Amino acid sequence: MARERELRIAAVGDLHFDSSNRNVLRDLFLEVNRAADVLVLCGDLTTTGRPEQMRAFAEELSTVRIPVVAVFGNHDHDGEAVEEAATILGEQGVQVLDGRQVTIEGVGFAGVKGFAGGFGRGTLAPFGEALIKEFVQHAIEEALKLENALRSLETEEKVAVLHYSPIAETVVGEPEAIYPFLGSSRLLTPLETHGATVIFHGHAHHGAPEARTPAGVPVFNVALPVLQREGRTYRLWSLKAPERRGARKGAGGAAGGARSES
Ligand SMILES: [Fe+2]
Ligand SMILES: [Fe+2]
Repeated sequence: MARERELRIAAVGDLHFDSSNRNVLRDLFLEVNRAADVLVLCGDLTTTGRPEQMRAFAEELSTVRIPVVAVFGNHDHDGEAVEEAATILGEQGVQVLDGRQVTIEGVGFAGVKGFAGGFGRGTLAPFGEALIKEFVQHAIEEALKLENALRSLETEEKVAVLHYSPIAETVVGEPEAIYPFLGSSRLLTPLETHGATVIFHGHAHHGAPEARTPAGVPVFNVALPVLQREGRTYRLWSLKAPERRGARKGAGGAAGGARSES
């Protein structure tokens, strides 16, 4: 009888690397090597996303011996060098998902940054000034990229990796006035329609650690400050992994067992 094969995911976001928090990250990265099979990073990897900062972050990541899947956050976009940042991380073996998907040991991962705009009936509508329409259009495009990535996965388990939240429930704890800047309900339809089985996001540093979508899909806010409030530095989650080959020794970066699809 085959033993059930599992993939252990360690998820965290909002590391906000700026070289002052090297020690926290070192301990975290060493620990996930032992505790997990995949590291999922939910954006705001750095404070500015400038290439020199992303290079220093990639150097820190070199201690990670398991595959790494990541999306960028708004902070990573601030330096206006996100393509170069993706190349730097790619050279380190990180799978940067921006509307792409990757399969690791039979488990699918689909990722986008996502965007703001608010939740439910309060969702910003594409009406009025051109700037408002552009803002909403970006949220719609992020949702479409997520839909395409999820739709392309044929795995039973589909892990969604986001920076912004798709539901209001995991931003509860933040001032209500800023909810519209913390996520968008527009991300929810692709997640539920195309079978996401677990959803990780960050960005809401003072939000709630977990909730469910209306269809019951678990959503985890893995922003580091949220996790630290609970005395941890990553969220561990296990999934059935039909192609799991067992313990890998010396599998560097995302090369170990990762199959990229675009
Ligand atoms: Fe953040
Ligand atoms: Fe953020």
